[in-house]
Amino acid sequence: MRLLGPAELDASSVVANNAMNRGRRLRGYSRELGLKMADTVKGKSWLDLCCGEGHALAEAAMLGADVTGVDLVGHFAVPPGKGLELVVASIPGWRPEREYDLVTVVHGLHYLGDKLKVLADVAGWLTERGRFVANFDVASVEAGSRRKLLAALRGQGFVYDSRNRRIARTGPAVVEFPYEYLGADDTAGPNYTGQPAVVSHYRA
Ligand SMILES: C[S@@+](CC[C@H](N)C(=O)[O-])C[C@H]1O[C@@H](n2cnc3c(N)ncnc32)[C@H](O)[C@@H]1O
Repeated sequence: MRLLGPAELDASSVVANNAMNRGRRLRGYSRELGLKMADTVKGKSWLDLCCGEGHALAEAAMLGADVTGVDLVGHFAVPPGKGLELVVASIPGWRPEREYDLVTVVHGLHYLGDKLKVLADVAGWLTERGRFVANFDVASVEAGSRRKLLAALRGQGFVYDSRNRRIARTGPAVVEFPYEYLGADDTAGPNYTGQPAVVSHYRA
């Protein structure tokens, strides 16, 4: 199997797939993340990675949230404006200039290369009681023993919900995982969402 580096992965047809849902609204985010988003974001700062078209973010800005959305593809369907910043960048590789009360990734981690780096980075971007929630399938990380991987995530303060395939944490930390990133496999086929996804490979 040939593992892809960051530039090759960004150009992969799996990542550029037009069939993926980029248009979720705030209600869809609530369902996917198991949060009451309208209540959660009101008056708060929110960073959404892999934000897609940005509909949910625009709704949150209307509710008084201070929102930043980041996506590899600048296919935003809403204009930036008061309380809404939209950034075109590849993750990992981008970092914010501030901390956030809420950081989310809705069905975006599936397409990223070094997923563990993203999780570690995000832990450093949270405010004191800040929350991180993302859709995450542990099967998308190939790092040897799954039991040890889950223990490493737990040991660094992440909670993995295997039933709903979500990962979450509360509060900031300096996180380091005992894994070396080897590259990304974009030939793994569909994941639990039915869309082709990317498996990230690590050496323990
Ligand atoms: C399934 S869509 C989800 C979009 C949005 N979160 C939603 O639920 O409507 C996944 C998004 O991840 C973005 N993406 C994929 N790889 C990325 C990368 N390396 N950096 C930033 N965004 C990326 C895609 O462009 C796409 O918009």
